[in-house]
Amino acid sequence: MGEYHIIGGRRLSGELAVHGSKNAILPILAACVLNAGENCLTNCPNISDTRYTIDILKEIGCTVKHEGDTITVNSAMANEFEISEKLVRKMRSSIIFLGSLLARFGAAKISYPGGCVLGLRPIDQHLKGLRQLGAQIEDEDGFLNCTAKRLVGADISLDFPSVGATENIMLAATLADGTTTITNAAREPEIVDLAMFLNSKGADITDAGEATIKIRGVAKLHDAEHRIMPDRIVAGTYLTAAAMTKGDITLINVSSDNISPVIAKLTEAGCIISTKGNHIHLVAPPKLRAIQLKTAPHPGFPTDLQPQFTAMLSVADGISIVEETVFEARNKHIYELSRMGANILQVNNNRTSIIEGMPHLTGNNVISHDLRGGAALILAGLAADGKTIVSPSDHVVRGYESIEVDLRSLGANIVYAN
Ligand code: EPZ
Repeated sequence: MGEYHIIGGRRLSGELAVHGSKNAILPILAACVLNAGENCLTNCPNISDTRYTIDILKEIGCTVKHEGDTITVNSAMANEFEISEKLVRKMRSSIIFLGSLLARFGAAKISYPGGCVLGLRPIDQHLKGLRQLGAQIEDEDGFLNCTAKRLVGADISLDFPSVGATENIMLAATLADGTTTITNAAREPEIVDLAMFLNSKGADITDAGEATIKIRGVAKLHDAEHRIMPDRIVAGTYLTAAAMTKGDITLINVSSDNISPVIAKLTEAGCIISTKGNHIHLVAPPKLRAIQLKTAPHPGFPTDLQPQFTAMLSVADGISIVEETVFEARNKHIYELSRMGANILQVNNNRTSIIEGMPHLTGNNVISHDLRGGAALILAGLAADGKTIVSPSDHVVRGYESIEVDLRSLGANIVYAN
């Protein structure tokens, strides 16, 4: 369990490449199970969630080579359809393997992923979709026992555009008999990246990224190579860091299309942003303007950048309002920010924050309760007077390769201490 030590007050400037996307690689690694062959992925983020997912692949019998940003998965010898409770406890998004294991083996067994600090995290939409495809799913002693003699295409309408449920259904439907439509599907760019990978393996998926996705089942898939899309949340995190330190940075290897709602809100707050090809250039104003924002499924403002924006607006000029509509409890960072002098009033069942921007924050020892909340506290430390210690580092390393190295390369005074 490490910690981040930050001395605030440095202006960020310079150029930085953004690593591959955590939320793209996890379902794509699960998709490697769908054919008994070898798939090669590049631009893979070297984060703990990637390593946990590789542990799952090995547990079900795959051989995995991980060299630099390249991961080669050979699933020819995969023969196990149960994921151990130990691994599910480490990473609740292991649930994303249900669809692949059912499609490959006709069975899947996984312990029920609990909730987390963000909220209950139910999986009813995953189970509803997989049952409609013909899976029998029993909940026995906290385990989900799933079997499917045959997966048959179905018309599935989600109650909520759940990212994970959309991905699980896509993975299972790829090899089902007949056609599946997913209505009210999640439209996140990571869904599009997954569909691109599956189609490169011989799947027949159309309109990924739209509200209704069509998957025509095919008999089998073949090997493929794929470059993981850049991480739009990591990109948004670093743009926000520059915005709150009066910075001037250029991110390379990013797609501005994937974070247009974030660029719009940073511009509203007074940043000057220009995009060219896979570059995004941001120049921050001397003082940020207060704004209002509301998180929503894509193409709305991403919930995964709400904590970072809450930190940024804590030092803007005026009263901002931030409403979190996706997770009912994505607010553990707010108490910690207030210990740094932020002035945030939570209303509406703690789903809405009224933030009075302060002239400055004050460094303090603060606790990282979850991945993006931890990143938000690091950003607050960059803008604060004095020293901030953010611990533990366990959550942040799940989604950021080495945030301290990246930020230091832009001029921040931050070190990682064991
Ligand atoms: C994915 O989580 C991401 N994780 C999350 O990123 C992200 O915040 C989230 O999508 C929303 O964009 C990965 O991709 C690994 P959801 P997921 O299913 O799939 C409710 C990060 O920081 N819901 O879209 O779990 C659920 O309770 C992480 O990188 C149901 O009610 O998100 C939540 O309120 C955090 N029933 C909302 O939908 C279900 O069956 C969004 O969940 C499923 C979800």
